[in-house]
Amino acid sequence: MPLELITAGESHGRELVAVLSGIPAGLRLDREGIDRELSRRQHGHGRGGRQKIERDRVEVRAGLRDSLTLGSPLLLAIANRDWENWSAVMDPWAVDAVKAARRRLTAPRPGHADLAGAWKYDHAADLRNVLERASARETAARVAAGAVCRQLLASCGVEIRSGVVALGGVELLAGPPSWADLERADDAAPLRTVAPDREAELVAAVDAARHAGETLGGVVGVVARGVPPGLGSYARWEERLDGRLAQAVMAVQAVKAVAIGAGLEAAARPGSQAHDPIVPGRGGLRRSSNHAGGVEAGISNGEELVVRAFMKPIATLREPLPSVDLATGAAARAAYERSDVTAVPACGVIVEAAVAFVLAQALLEKFGGDTVADLHAALGAYRVRLGSLGPEGFTAPRG
Ligand SMILES: Cc1cc2nc3c(=O)[nH]c(=O)nc-3n(C[C@H](O)[C@H](O)[C@H](O)COP(=O)(O)O)c2cc1C
Repeated sequence: MPLELITAGESHGRELVAVLSGIPAGLRLDREGIDRELSRRQHGHGRGGRQKIERDRVEVRAGLRDSLTLGSPLLLAIANRDWENWSAVMDPWAVDAVKAARRRLTAPRPGHADLAGAWKYDHAADLRNVLERASARETAARVAAGAVCRQLLASCGVEIRSGVVALGGVELLAGPPSWADLERADDAAPLRTVAPDREAELVAAVDAARHAGETLGGVVGVVARGVPPGLGSYARWEERLDGRLAQAVMAVQAVKAVAIGAGLEAAARPGSQAHDPIVPGRGGLRRSSNHAGGVEAGISNGEELVVRAFMKPIATLREPLPSVDLATGAAARAAYERSDVTAVPACGVIVEAAVAFVLAQALLEKFGGDTVADLHAALGAYRVRLGSLGPEGFTAPRG
């Protein structure tokens, strides 16, 4: 069966959970490694008050024994510390008196899930029924599952990193990032940008937006290196790796565009400047550029896999946009509730997790195996088959 992920949980419910099914047996999980990803997701200047309450930690409730995966589905849980303050609002079995005392949200926020969700699920009487699940708090579960995928990928020599490459309209990099660009993004820096010397300027821009009741979007870059060539396929449209990456990344809340490699810029270039010459390399073949971003014809080509995600500004505004009160039909200002001013740095960590899931799924599809040892053996045999014809980055580490 393919690697599958399903998440459940509401923003202010008891917990977020992820069921990750298809991880082979025998993967040694590092709990701190998963918690590190969860805390990276919480980090970033411009987040709202919620992040001060939560201290995300993973509980592995199934699929693991003695730190080793069993080959059965993993159940990962992240508690919501804020649940204590919301248990009456979110009570799954609330009695009528409790329900009657609740404040109802009825003025949908433009740009959020509220109105479309109210229509679709008949939740107009209280938009909380929509926003609790639409909220990006859900991504804590995706990041935990992505962290497991990362650990599987790391055992196969694949690493992933990210950085903020634009914020609030300020571009910090012309074109797609490389691994070397992203190495400048420091996890401890307030905004995890690829330009540490401009962090102070951007922190000031976030603070100015906060004072003005505004919010800011931006662009994150994610690069995976060590990806074996041959993941994905052109044989069936839905197997194409670029399509699968785009789906997983676009499915991150507030991401409105995805580019692979120089996907945006290449559309304006002549062909001779858009493609990557194939040249002999040390112990294999290499490319003298990477405009394709590591994918050709829906298949990884062994070069760095480069993805950019474009995040719109947060929709919850302290100076709300015009809306309509669904209870009365009268004009109203959209609802406001504690919110982030910007979450672009966190978005980078979530996109890393989305990329990790897709790569782990494609890796397992190609090399399979019930155990991690089987997977490694199949990968090793493939390396031998590619031999000196293979890409340099795969057959011999770049010096
Ligand atoms: C890390 C992260 C944090 C977010 N925080 C907020 C927030 O505090 N307030 C808000 O209105 N939207 C926030 N969003 C965006 C909304 O979840 C998103 O806009 C909404 O679910 C509607 O989905 P769409 O923008 O993809 O159409 C956040 C998104 C991410 C990725």
